[in-house]
Formats: sequence, C-alpha cells, structure tokens
Amino acid sequence: MSVTVPAQAAYLVAALLFIAALAGLSKHETAKVGLRYGMAGMAIALIATVWLAVDADIEGLGLVLLVVAVAVGAAIGIWRARIVEMTGMPELIALLHSFVGLAAVLVGWNGFLLVEDDLDGEEARHLDLIGTLGIHHAEVMIGVFIGAVTFTGSIVAYLKLSGKIDSKPLMLPGKNLINVGSLVVFAGLTVWFCASPGIVPLILATVLALALGWHLVASIGGGDMPVVVSMLNSYSGWAAAASGFLLENDALIITGALVGSSGAYLSYIMCQAMNRSFISVIAGGFGIEAPAGDGDTDYGEHREVDAEGAAELLKSAKSVIITPGYGMAVAQAQHGVADLTRRLRDAGVEVRFGIHPVAGRLPGHMNVLLAEAKVPYDIVLEMDEINDDFAETSVVLVIGANDTVNPAAADDPSSPIAGMPVLHVWEAENVIVFKRSMASGYAGVQNPLFFRENTQMLFGDAKDRVEDILKAL
Ligand code: TAP
Repeated sequence: MSVTVPAQAAYLVAALLFIAALAGLSKHETAKVGLRYGMAGMAIALIATVWLAVDADIEGLGLVLLVVAVAVGAAIGIWRARIVEMTGMPELIALLHSFVGLAAVLVGWNGFLLVEDDLDGEEARHLDLIGTLGIHHAEVMIGVFIGAVTFTGSIVAYLKLSGKIDSKPLMLPGKNLINVGSLVVFAGLTVWFCASPGIVPLILATVLALALGWHLVASIGGGDMPVVVSMLNSYSGWAAAASGFLLENDALIITGALVGSSGAYLSYIMCQAMNRSFISVIAGGFGIEAPAGDGDTDYGEHREVDAEGAAELLKSAKSVIITPGYGMAVAQAQHGVADLTRRLRDAGVEVRFGIHPVAGRLPGHMNVLLAEAKVPYDIVLEMDEINDDFAETSVVLVIGANDTVNPAAADDPSSPIAGMPVLHVWEAENVIVFKRSMASGYAGVQNPLFFRENTQMLFGDAKDRVEDILKAL
C-alpha cells in the first residue's frame, strides 16, 4: 500500500480534530480542551506532510533542510508564544497572518515556475491532458492575489496595533475607486495570464495585490481594527486553502476553509456588535467619509478624586458596576480588581462587570483576565445585558477603558466612532475613571465622559490605585 493512503487518513483525522478544536474554543469551560485538539491535529498534519515528502522524492539534503526548517520554525514559535504579553497578542496574530499570506504568494509563484519550467514535461502534459492547465493558472493568480493582500494588509495591521504607525484611517482621494479599479485590473490580468501564461502579468498582479492589501487596511481607522484582525484571519484561511489547491493538499484545503469561514463569521458578528457595515469594512472603509473630528473641542474642566475619596464613595454605594478596558490589561490590575470585588460583595454591595465586545485588544480579552483572577462568571455581563442598568447604579468604576465608554459614539454624529455601541456608564450616579492621564484611547478620540459633572478622574496606574483603595477600605 502506498504511503499516500495512511497519510490522507491522517489528514482526515487532523481535519476532524480542527473542527473539534473550534467547537471547544466556543466556550470558556471547554477552551483548553479545544486548544489541545488543535495542537494534536497540527502535530498529526505535520508528521503526515513530512512522511509524504519523504515518500515522494525528497531525500538527502532536501529532507535535512525540511526537518531543520520545521525545527527552527517551531523553536521560534514556542519562544515568541512564551514571551508575548497578553496585550501584545493581536500584533503577534497579525504578524502570523502575514506569514500565511507570504507563504501563499510563494506557493503560487512556485506553482507557476514548476509548470513554466517544464512546459513539455510530465506535469504540464498531465494538466493539459485533463484540461486543467487553465484552471491551474487561475489558481496561481487567485492564490498569489489573496496571499499578497493578506501579507501587506497584516503588516499594516501589525504596525497599527503595535503603535508603530498612526491608527487614523488613510483617506486617499478616490479611495473607493482605487479599490474597485484594482479588482477590475486584477480580473483583466487573470484573463491575460490564463490566455498566455507569462511572468509579466504575474508580476503585475503580485505588485497590485501587495499595494491593495496595504491600502485596504491603511484606510480603516483604529476603532475598526478588531474587525480588521478577524477579517485578515479569514483572508489567511482562504490564502491557505488556495495553496492547498495548488499543492493538492486536502488538509490545507480543509483547514484553510475552516479558518476562512470562521474568521468571516467572526468579522460579521463583530460588525453587528459595533454597528458597522461588513461590506464597508472588508472593502477598506467603503462609504466612510473622513470624520469631521473633535480634536480641538473644549469640554471644560475635569474633576479629580484620590483613592481615599473613591473608597468613601464605594463604602456608601448600594450597587457598583466595573467596566474594564485595555488599561486594566496593561496594568495587570485584574487580581486587585477581583480582591476589591470580593471585599465590596462581603460588605453587601452588589457588584457586576460590564464587558464591551471590543474592550482590550482581543475578542474576549477582559473575560480571560477576569477568569484568570477568579471573578465569578455570573457577575460578568455582556454590554447588552447590562446597558439598561447603569441609570440605577450608585458607582461605576471605569478601569483603563476609554473608547468603549465614550458618550460621543452615541451623541456626536461627527465623531470617528459615531454609531459604535458603547457602555452607558455616564447614566450612573457617580463615575470614577482610572487612568494615568487625559490621553485619548485607541481610536484617538477625546472622551467627553471625563468632563461630565458626575465623573471624577483617579489618575495613576490602575493596579496601584486599586490597591490604594483596598488599603483605604
Ligand atoms: P482604549 O480606548 O484603548 O483605552 C485604554 C485606556 O487605558 C487609555 O486611555 C489609557 O489612558 C489607559 N491606560 C493604559 N495603561 C494604563 C494603566 N497602566 N493604568 C491605568 N490606565 C491605563 O481601551 P478600551 O476602552 O478597552 O477600547 C478598546 C479599543 O481598542 C477600541 O477602540 C477597540 O476598537 C480597539 N481594539 C480592540 C480590539 C479587540 S478585538 N478588543 C483589537 C484591536 C483594537 P492613559 O494612557 O491616560 O493611562
């Protein structure tokens, strides 16, 4: 029996494990088991791939290079995953997506060069005989296109998320025309390439797709980056699936399709949660005009409170809602926040958490931190579950959140984050905002909440301030 049959069976088992992994990851309680399924599936797929390569014609130096490449890649991956901070995860994920994109471009080019090199050879004759040479060329173009868009798009996402470039949207004149025009030109290049395969249309399509990926993501503002990250996740899946067709690798096709479709669905749910148009975001901010901006608006004076003052307010509170954000993750304040929650609940205060769908820098970022600090799940509520309760709440503690509690999203149609649903913290009797300065949040938009009459700013690192309050209680 050829080695292909057991290797294909191994691929099938790996694909089933990936599906089980996705099912496991859909709930907190089963997420760890889901991860283990995913790791087992990837190990099986890797072993089967090396086995197939050995069985084909790779031996000697080729095999050594393959094993060394896998070992070096695995070592770098384990090292990066171990040292990455939770707050640095989105950047790392964006960078990993860029690798998938680059790999798809290289696989596409390889698919072209192999056939081109050997036009009278076995591979080309075989493809021609079964009438699929044209399909092969279309696959090359599609793989290279999706891969190149994913590659540069993910690099821009990485640069924006890590703060290396401004998160404001790039607003080139006629940006929608540029995007649509690029697609039309790409379709023309594909027809040209399939009719008379050559290096010129392939180079042009690669350069065009690299530029388009860059432009699409650069045109999207900071507030919409969560959707962009999941959209690039989806693109990287489709890029992998396209490579799977070229390499005739079923595991890659199935896995790519799983990642592509689940990423697309996640992007869709996020768009709904943030009141954004899915089409607009995937089309690089199609239909979104440059925001009027409110950078210079004078909102008046803000009020400050110290830890003792905040403790006094909490002592007399009946109900408290805590709305954490990215700053809680930066300060690693979740354990102090959990202690504060226990202390207040022991004193008979009703304490709940309000979690915005894009608080932090990862889907579920706040939930993970609170679970790590052993905050009970049943007092951690989603935005929609708690938004009507702020008006009856004595004190809201905004811990390192900014964009997700910005009333401008609800009140000011000219704001860059207009229309994004936010936590209505300002409706509470008292609001205490923990942050280090008056600086704006990720979307770069000033927050009028800080200047409201019922808001007091508690400046400093969130972890230190929470500990000060615990001492004062
Ligand atoms: P942000 O709007 O990012 O604001 C976080 C605030 O935390 C900042 O204003 C900062 O103010 C404060 N902060 C930072 N370090 C702190 C520390 N050590 N102690 C106390 N405060 C600290 O947070 P958010 O409300 O969570 O909103 C998330 C934003 O990220 C949204 O715009 C969202 O679209 C975007 N985003 C989300 C994701 C996902 S999937 N969740 C992915 C990418 C982007 P100071 O500097 O003054 O302290």
